[in-house]
Amino acid sequence: MSCLGEPFFTVTNFTMTLTDRTCVVTGASRGIGAEIAKELADHGANVVVNYRSSEARAADVAAYVEAESPGDAITVQADVSEPEEVESMAEQTHEAFGQADVLVNNAGITLDGRFENIDREKWKTVIDVNLTGVYNCTDAFYDDIKASDQGRIVNMSSIVGEAGNFGQANYAASKAGVIGFTKTIARELAPKESTANCVAPGFIETDMLADVPEKIREGILEDIPLDRFGEPEEIADAVRFLASGDSSYMTGQTLSVNGGKHL
Ligand SMILES: NC(=O)c1ccc[n+]([C@@H]2O[C@H](COP(=O)([O-])OP(=O)(O)OC[C@H]3O[C@@H](n4cnc5c(N)ncnc54)[C@H](OP(=O)(O)O)[C@@H]3O)[C@@H](O)[C@H]2O)c1
Repeated sequence: MSCLGEPFFTVTNFTMTLTDRTCVVTGASRGIGAEIAKELADHGANVVVNYRSSEARAADVAAYVEAESPGDAITVQADVSEPEEVESMAEQTHEAFGQADVLVNNAGITLDGRFENIDREKWKTVIDVNLTGVYNCTDAFYDDIKASDQGRIVNMSSIVGEAGNFGQANYAASKAGVIGFTKTIARELAPKESTANCVAPGFIETDMLADVPEKIREGILEDIPLDRFGEPEEIADAVRFLASGDSSYMTGQTLSVNGGKHL
């Protein structure tokens, strides 16, 4: 409250709920993205379930939303690294739900190796999806987010973008780039009362972590104070907070959700 007893800022009615908010979640066919789409829909949002190739799994996510959540869902195939496909996703979003209010840039890949084994192709492929993909989607939905009453962009970074990691120079660069991008977009969106933040997960039980050899997994675990890997639902909770009105005074930040792992 101000000294005059008036609130400085009136938080709108989607503080606790996402009812009637349209949320676009990239890479929502499986893993963290699938749980984000379900979590946002469980809180009332209409969700766009984007995928690249897992059509059946994206359809399962949309079917869950239609059956179990107050929100509605559509699936949209689009490779986030391809600007024309992303533009088409924006058109399909507008046809189904109108303007997007929330963009969750979650889609990501790894192509790991020691630096001397990361050739130009591995470098470019990871940057194209993880960083340029974030640019492409932000570009396609930027006018929506600016026009929305408290629009939200939530970008998926990683503990690896914050701290670096052996064998992931391309991935670390892409995820660190996402943090810098987000801090800048946050400043530019601020006059419109829209926000942009990152979530930086630690090591989360998805297909991406399943690709990591057992011996390396054991080494990672030794360094996690909570003594376990995270679950996708635990990342989805953080994204829901940043997508909602509850995070109205938070922008340009990186929320680390990593079991207490030191950077
Ligand atoms: N798991 C972790 O430990 C961890 C830790 C830190 C950060 N992250 C980040 O969290 C995000 C999700 O990771 P995850 O573990 O859930 O990964 P995942 O299980 O491998 O799922 C990746 C998702 O991204 C989609 N995708 C990949 N390339 C795409 C493209 N070019 N265009 C559109 N969609 C694409 C996939 O679609 P298809 O199913 O159609 O291929 C899938 O839905 C990523 O950005 C990742 O870097 C993960």
